[in-house]
Amino acid sequence: MNLAQGADKLRGLQPAPVLALANVESAYGPVKAIRGVSLSVAPGSIATVLGANGAGKTTILKTISGVLDPTRGSIAFKGASIAGLDPAQIVRRGLSHVPEGREVFPLLSVRDNLLMGAYTRRDRDGVARDMEAVYGYFPVLRERAGQDAGLLSGGQQQMLAISRALMAAPELILLDEPSLGLSPKLTKDIFEIVVRINRERGTTILLVEQNANMALNAADYGYVLENGRIVAEDTCAALREKDDIKEFYLGMKDSGVRGERRWKKRKTWR
Ligand SMILES: Nc1ncnc2c1ncn2[C@@H]1O[C@H](COP(=O)(O)OP(=O)(O)O)[C@@H](O)[C@H]1O
Ligand SMILES: [Mg+2]
Repeated sequence: MNLAQGADKLRGLQPAPVLALANVESAYGPVKAIRGVSLSVAPGSIATVLGANGAGKTTILKTISGVLDPTRGSIAFKGASIAGLDPAQIVRRGLSHVPEGREVFPLLSVRDNLLMGAYTRRDRDGVARDMEAVYGYFPVLRERAGQDAGLLSGGQQQMLAISRALMAAPELILLDEPSLGLSPKLTKDIFEIVVRINRERGTTILLVEQNANMALNAADYGYVLENGRIVAEDTCAALREKDDIKEFYLGMKDSGVRGERRWKKRKTWR
C-alpha cells in the first residue's frame, strides 16, 4: 500500500481500481464468448476469475491484453481506456499477459526468453536487476539460463512465462491458468511464488483458474464466470464459505449425517 492508498483507507474510501471492465462483450465471429462482463481489480491486490472449461476465462484476458478487441463495453487501465489498443502498446503501459499454455519461445534460450520480456525497456540496470529478481524467485531458471526453453519441463516453462512477464516491469499481470497440466506440488510452489511477487513487488495480479481451491487461497477477491457471464463475486474468504461454491467449484459437500465434509471428485474438473 502506498501513502495515497493508505490515506484513502483511513478515510474509508475505496482506492481507484487499477483495472475496470464494464459490460465487456467479445466474440469469435458469430460466437459470443463473453457477455457483459464487469469486474475491477484493486491496486496491489490479487483478483481471480473462476470458471469451468469454456466459461470464457481466456477470452476475458485476451480482450484485456489487446489480443482480441471487445465488441462492446469499456476497459480502463489506471483510469485510461485501453480497448482497441495493440498488445504492444498495452504492455508499454504496464500490463503483461502470461498466456494459457505458457507460449515460451522454444528455440530461444531461457535467458533470451527473459530478455524478450524486457524488449520495451531502455533501463539496462533495471533489466539486470529484474533478471536477478526472477532468478531469485525461480533458481532453476538461472541453472538453465543457456538452455533452449523448449527443453524445460511444463512447470519450468510456466515459471519462465511468469518471469518473462515480470521482465516488462508490469504494474498488472494477467495470469491464465498457471496450474494447467501441472502436478499439485508444482502448482502449490508456483502459487506461493505468485503470492510472493504480489506481496514483495506490489504487482497487481488478475488470475483466471479452474483450480478454485488454489485460486481462492491465493487471491483477495473473486468472480465466478459461467457461460461468459459473471454470476457471483465476493471476497475470497466469503466465497470459500459459500455452499454452492464449495459444492461446484471446490468439490466439497456437507455429508449431513456426521457433519463431516466429504470430498468428491468433480466431473468438470481437469
Ligand atoms: N478461437 C476460437 N474460435 C471460436 N470459438 C472460440 C475460440 N476460442 C474460444 N472459443 C469459444 O469461446 C468460449 C470461451 O472460451 P475460453 O475463453 O477459451 O474459455 P476458458 O478459458 O474459460 O476455458 C468457448 O465456448 C470456446 O469454445
Ligand atoms: Mg482458458
